[in-house]
Amino acid sequence: MDGNRAPDADIHMDRIRIRGGRPLHGRIAISGAKNAALPLMAAALLTDAPLRLGNLPHLADITTFANVLSQHGVSLHMDGADSAGASGRRLDLRAERIVNTCAPYELVRRMRASVLVLGPLLARSGYAEVSLPGGCAIGTRPVDLHLRGLEALGAEIELADGYIRAHAPDGLKGGEVVFPKVSVGATENLLMAATLAEGETRLVNAAREPEITDLAQCLNKMGARIAGIGTDTLTVRGVAGLHGADHDVIPDRIEAGTYAMAAAITDGEVELAGAEPAHLEAPLAVLADAGVSVERDGGLLRVRRGRSPLDAVALCTEPYPGFPTDLQAQIMALMTTARGQAQIAERIFENRFMHVPELHRMGAEIDVEGGTARVRGCTGLRGAPVMASDLRASAGLVLAGLAASGETVVNRVYHLDRGYERMEEKLAACGADVERLRGEG
Ligand code: UD1
Repeated sequence: MDGNRAPDADIHMDRIRIRGGRPLHGRIAISGAKNAALPLMAAALLTDAPLRLGNLPHLADITTFANVLSQHGVSLHMDGADSAGASGRRLDLRAERIVNTCAPYELVRRMRASVLVLGPLLARSGYAEVSLPGGCAIGTRPVDLHLRGLEALGAEIELADGYIRAHAPDGLKGGEVVFPKVSVGATENLLMAATLAEGETRLVNAAREPEITDLAQCLNKMGARIAGIGTDTLTVRGVAGLHGADHDVIPDRIEAGTYAMAAAITDGEVELAGAEPAHLEAPLAVLADAGVSVERDGGLLRVRRGRSPLDAVALCTEPYPGFPTDLQAQIMALMTTARGQAQIAERIFENRFMHVPELHRMGAEIDVEGGTARVRGCTGLRGAPVMASDLRASAGLVLAGLAASGETVVNRVYHLDRGYERMEEKLAACGADVERLRGEG
């Protein structure tokens, strides 16, 4: 649920300045996955017992979501934070009592993923009121699939005053939910809700992203009875109550993919520590086609160009196990340096090419027609001031800046901070000339 609106004016407007042209060399530790951590945190609402999460990334979105949960009555305790605020931290969450079943507009508008409280709150309390998230930079992003799914479990839902009001006074009842379209968030909401529903629920055409597998495994540790994990049909036998658990968040496959592309775009060599290659099959296959070499060495993934220049590739974004939409902006940046014409079709979000006009300002030649971008490679990127529109677009622009001649300043870095832990520090440690400029952007 990237691509939120701009935050309030009180949130600082840092920029990142990059002087491009330096190859990256070194080792980058991959943090825990934001998109796995958020639903895992929401799962704490399902039980009055403590849920202990490890390998949590240190990100703005995690803090935002902690605030959402805290006003519902979840007590949160973070430990393991070192002075640099690095990842690997533990978070204890305990929703001993739900004190408030409403997620207000002021919080939900900051982060769409807040809608993940809907299923768990409803299942635990029989009532939930959650602000409609509204639009965002990468499209309309409706929540109809979440609502239709909960209705199939017996919830009564009304939309009024910009809010979703969901009731299930006698509890949710198991049922069959056939998703007309694959949705990560709707699958997560339904999976959590179904754990406490009476009887059996079948989720058909469910998303099967690794983050969903992670959530399902954690729910089972909490006493849920979920079968079919990792497939597109999840079967959930409802239980009367869940207990606590201890669970580590999986590594961030999008962060790993981003740094693999950063290594390739700078013609450097980077070792990714702690990445899970099994979650990266589609992007690694695309990189291999382009001529990027990725070798496994124990727990490390060693990434470098196998040929120079790289070759243009054709790809389309798809639900997992396909190529992730969250790496689309980054692969587009990489393709501006490849030989030939790359073709990148965006199939998940209708308006996710906001980085294209910014890449044009850096000298890229990209035509967009419908949902497909054609990138003419080897045009030579030149540094420029650019504006980030959403989280992954920002990462694409940083990559372009690393490869460009001269200076690039990426404005609105708060998008990047939502999903990448200390990106400029990780890049600088590998020799990039990159610096955060504090203040107005
Ligand atoms: C999640 C990820 C996000 C990623 C996206 C797709 C999190 C916090 N965010 O977002 O980083 O880009 O998956 O992999 O995990 N849709 C509907 N109706 C709905 C719900 C979704 O039409 O009720 C549409 C969306 O507009 C979109 C598509 O379904 O076109 C997929 O969206 P979805 O998988 O739900 O994305 P998110 O869960 O929001």
